[in-house]
Amino acid sequence: MKAVCIAIDGPASSGKSTVAKLLAKSLGFIYVDTGAMYRTITLASLNNNIDPKDESGLLALLKETTIKFGWQEDGQHVWMNGQDVTDAIRSSKVTNLVSEISMHPSVRQELVARQREMARDGNIVMDGRDIGTTVLPNAQVKVFLVASVEERAKRRYEENLSKQIPTDFEQLKKEIEERDFKDSHRRVSPLIQADDAQLIDTTSLSIEEVVAKVKDLVKKQLIS
Ligand code: DC
Repeated sequence: MKAVCIAIDGPASSGKSTVAKLLAKSLGFIYVDTGAMYRTITLASLNNNIDPKDESGLLALLKETTIKFGWQEDGQHVWMNGQDVTDAIRSSKVTNLVSEISMHPSVRQELVARQREMARDGNIVMDGRDIGTTVLPNAQVKVFLVASVEERAKRRYEENLSKQIPTDFEQLKKEIEERDFKDSHRRVSPLIQADDAQLIDTTSLSIEEVVAKVKDLVKKQLIS
């Protein structure tokens, strides 16, 4: 049987990765968090003092950087050249720089090639900004998740509180808005809903409700 691909796109903190992870687990599919790949090259650029505007320097660095995913008891981990960077890629330094690094066409081209390779053999749930439009345009199921900026900032704020990360709510909101703007206005593969993607507004839905909605779509798509 042909491998099944599920593409989940949407802006920052729209619930993509939580939904994608739960969905992958319950379907027994592989889960690929493409945002983590852009975050990893951003971390590498910081560690190696590469100017965020130096596209060829970034590409050369990326070519010698391996990015691997794997499951451990506490969830999915990310390794950069064998080093566990699961927490390091979520730092605010990385978060505030990642949109600038992910604007470069050659960096995107290299990561998109790696993402397609990961989707070649198995059933997969992939989340990001350009999965339905660019990475896997033939995905059988495409979902575009949105939520109000207020609600997304609230989710991130509560997540930070639970991790005891001191956070200013208004600052967080401003950062989310800035990242939305950069992600949806870049020249290559901007964040847009694919024509054939299903829009789900998660503002007033629980994670379980969103997962159930996506599962329904999967059932419908795969039966028809
Ligand atoms: O999903 P996230 O917040 O971890 O993504 C981090 C950044 O990576 C996001 O601001 C834009 C970029 N990104 C991208 O350009 N394309 C993707 N497919 C995934 C993420």
